[in-house]
Amino acid sequence: MNTLMRLSLQFPQWRTYCIKQCAFAGAEAAARGKPNYEEFIGNHHQQAQRSIVVQVSSEKSYAELYNYCSRFGHIVTVQHYSVQHEDELHYMLLEYASSEEATAAISSSAYNAELSSSGGGNGVPVRSPFLWFRAPAPGAGRRGQPKLANNQKAHALHTIYGTRALNHEALKELLHGASSIDQQLHLLYERTCLNDLGVRMRFLAALQVEQAISGMFPEALAQPFGSSVNGFGKMGCDLDLILRFDGKTTTTDQDIQREASRLIYHTKENLSNGRSQTQRQMECIGDMLHLFLPGVCHVRRILQARVPIIKYHHEHLDLEVDLSMSNLTGFFMSELLYMFGQIDPRVRPLTFCVRRWAQSCGLTNPSPGRWITNFSLTCLVMFFLQQLRQPILPAIGAMVKAATATDIRVTEDGINCTFARDMERVGFQSRNTSSLSELLLQFFEFYSQFDFHNRAISLNEGRALAKPDHSAMYIVNPLEQLLNVSKNVSLEESERLRIEVRNAAWMLESEVENTTLSESERREQSWGLLNLFKHPEKSVIRPNMFFKPRMVEVSDLFDKSQSQPPAINYKSPTVRQ
Ligand code: GTP
Ligand code: MG
Repeated sequence: MNTLMRLSLQFPQWRTYCIKQCAFAGAEAAARGKPNYEEFIGNHHQQAQRSIVVQVSSEKSYAELYNYCSRFGHIVTVQHYSVQHEDELHYMLLEYASSEEATAAISSSAYNAELSSSGGGNGVPVRSPFLWFRAPAPGAGRRGQPKLANNQKAHALHTIYGTRALNHEALKELLHGASSIDQQLHLLYERTCLNDLGVRMRFLAALQVEQAISGMFPEALAQPFGSSVNGFGKMGCDLDLILRFDGKTTTTDQDIQREASRLIYHTKENLSNGRSQTQRQMECIGDMLHLFLPGVCHVRRILQARVPIIKYHHEHLDLEVDLSMSNLTGFFMSELLYMFGQIDPRVRPLTFCVRRWAQSCGLTNPSPGRWITNFSLTCLVMFFLQQLRQPILPAIGAMVKAATATDIRVTEDGINCTFARDMERVGFQSRNTSSLSELLLQFFEFYSQFDFHNRAISLNEGRALAKPDHSAMYIVNPLEQLLNVSKNVSLEESERLRIEVRNAAWMLESEVENTTLSESERREQSWGLLNLFKHPEKSVIRPNMFFKPRMVEVSDLFDKSQSQPPAINYKSPTVRQ
């Protein structure tokens, strides 16, 4: 009997739960206005099942497509986006009122006979939600199709221009136009965070994988995690996916009954070594994605990494995907971050700013290596908000203490991810009234003085602990407390962080004090976050208020050949250190 079964017998009142079955989600979420993580995931999973993506020749195809697709059911929303390929390719993401209607639209679709009859190659006849709206057959014309009333069009079409990140110039322009640093912080968050279309596209990518293997694995679940769902994702962020063949995070009543069944499935024997088993399976899934799934291209298998992953690009969604099969805590870690983001409206804008600042001064890098990751950086922000005299976030320990039987979650490999999901039970209320810009400055000041040499950061306790080993930076992994999330960070990179936070504190303090700029000066010169995000040629230690003044250039501290990250062409987001 596995851990989940045991727990469910131990706690008969434990509400059985399965991500796929979050059907209750919509109504509850609407009633409260703020969906919890499971509701958020459940809603989007269902929304993906009600959706199709149709490639069209241009945005002007909207009325014709709307008319055509309306024959299968009631269309709730249509969102247009384009992907820059050799040409600009246009797509419409349509959401129907029910999954049956979307299925009817998919089932009505034909395979591309034109390709085979013209000798242009035969498409593999795979069924998926990714479709193409071809021109009408000669003679069939557009005659007889009802014209779309203007109000109908306005109601249905919600065009969101693009799914890609704001470019540097547009962002600069936006921040110039703000009236204060606080407004800059808000604008940065609102205009760079992953939008609704971005989330829908990510759940469709997950559904495509899930449906592709559903014949053999009817319970399969491809579960998005990481920044696509934790509320800290920006436009264009990658999609982290965990693929589970059995699709469950906990046990249902039916499973408990099945335990007693006398009929047992014949199955293939597992390889003795779990890791090589996962690697073989992933190799096979990688081939399947590569050979059969429309839109999937540039499939790379990174199977020797600690957590093996398959990376691919989805050309219809313009999306990078990292698929793993064995990083089960990632989903619950994302839930914790999602909850932190929901607790206080300052958490996400602050984290966005810190992440962008770190990117602009080269502290983070898209390749894996000895530099701090976005995830570790996010942990630093959460910890800072926990340890304030007036904390803005509770310690995870307090959430664990407040957990009840309904909160029990244990991963298949036995890692306990139990913590209270209902913040009212935690009873945490923040009395902190600092503005975002004040918090940002305090963040930089706090880490300027933090003793990374001797102290470890514990989000579980909400305070620093003695460092248990000699890693340059130690962030206790919140869900596996014997592990260090930032074990990869080298001494040089840790020092660089210290230097950069000092520089940022120094710079931001003068910016915060400088409130005398007129509106025209703000438009013309660099100020506030614009100065924080400036990419200096060399980072310089400023004379500062915390340490005895000295002038040192970061690059002088290290071997120059090491100051640039080596080119590594893969990223393993799920490495468990
Ligand atoms: P971006 O992809 O950079 O936008 O952020 P992300 O939060 O998605 O980070 P990433 O793709 O690197 O990782 C995805 C998720 O995996 C994170 O949100 C964490 O939940 C988890 N994760 C990433 N790195 C680590 C790590 O070093 N240790 C542990 N335990 N979990 C990690
Ligand atoms: Mg990610």
